[in-house]
Amino acid sequence: MLNNIKTFVGKTKDGVKVDVIDLTPLYLSNKKLFNKLFSESQKIYNYSFPKWECETASRVKWWYFDKPIKDNSLERSFYLTSIINGDSKGMACLFLKVIDDFSVVFFDYIAIDKNYYNKGIGSLLLEAFFKNPYLRSIERKKPLKYLILEVKKPETNYRDKNRDLVRPVFYHKILGASAAVIIDKTNNVHLIPFCSPSIKKNRRIQPPVPFLFLLTEIDKGNLEKITIEPGTAINQSGKLICDKKKLKRLDKIKGLKIILTFIDSYKDGNSGYSDLQIENIKRRIIKSLDESEYIYFIPVHDTRYLQSCK
Ligand SMILES: CC(C)(COP(=O)(O)OP(=O)(O)OC[C@H]1O[C@@H](n2cnc3c(N)ncnc32)[C@H](O)[C@@H]1OP(=O)(O)O)[C@@H](O)C(=O)NCCC(=O)NCCS
Repeated sequence: MLNNIKTFVGKTKDGVKVDVIDLTPLYLSNKKLFNKLFSESQKIYNYSFPKWECETASRVKWWYFDKPIKDNSLERSFYLTSIINGDSKGMACLFLKVIDDFSVVFFDYIAIDKNYYNKGIGSLLLEAFFKNPYLRSIERKKPLKYLILEVKKPETNYRDKNRDLVRPVFYHKILGASAAVIIDKTNNVHLIPFCSPSIKKNRRIQPPVPFLFLLTEIDKGNLEKITIEPGTAINQSGKLICDKKKLKRLDKIKGLKIILTFIDSYKDGNSGYSDLQIENIKRRIIKSLDESEYIYFIPVHDTRYLQSCK
């Protein structure tokens, strides 16, 4: 079935062969195979996230397959699937944005077939992405500098295993990602009021959804993972307990540019998001940084003691 298609080949932890392919070129070259793998992957995506969070298949198709083909810029989308014995067992979608003289990859979603959790397939999808020849080809033009994603804040009561345990461990360990915060003059740590806009339902605009903004630096294709251990950056009262100098930071202008570009991407195309809501989210984030020179980054796990942004 995958004859003549170039795949990234890996193995699960128990030694089963996994092929990873990007569905974007397949969309043009083999519609039949594309339709099979896309519908299997979307099934996994749809049961892995709450209904309100899931984009429709037509929007996913427009964003990941139609748009990159029409677009002539360096910016590209990737919809990767992990295939075992011809069937999709997971998906990851990411897109590349150029900001000034560098590029950033936005990590949209990853979801693995629930019968295949913890077998190394999620890690393999990311490995395949970072070994993609396209990333090397843009390195001389607009080097890839940051991996960005938005996630739900873990809570202290451990009610949701995925939100409170699996994802924070996955993001910290596999992606080395850390969460954006503001540190005030008395070393109290505050979440950036980062939210994603809501999809309109029945023509009504739902309230924005608070998320954490996560970032990993990238240098020559390698993730520069956070080195601070979870549980050592802030205490239960939300005070900084490690040396501030140990934390990664971005100056406010650069950090804001990346965050605001990410939020603006919700406006692209016939998105179903409200421009007004998007502008209000941006305004609140800009205001929260009035007194700060820097945005700091702490382990995802440590944010569970902080107030969620309202
Ligand atoms: C999060 C998710 C993508 C991980 O995929 P996966 O293929 O199971 O992950 P891997 O097997 O590659 O595991 C990678 C690391 O994640 C952590 N991890 C994965 N499952 C875990 C679990 N049940 N408990 C604790 N840690 C876990 C481990 O640290 C693991 O590394 P290790 O095995 O070397 O210790 C998968 O659980 C999933 O699809 N969840 C539902 C959708 C979702 O939450 N997506 C993320 C938000 S976009």
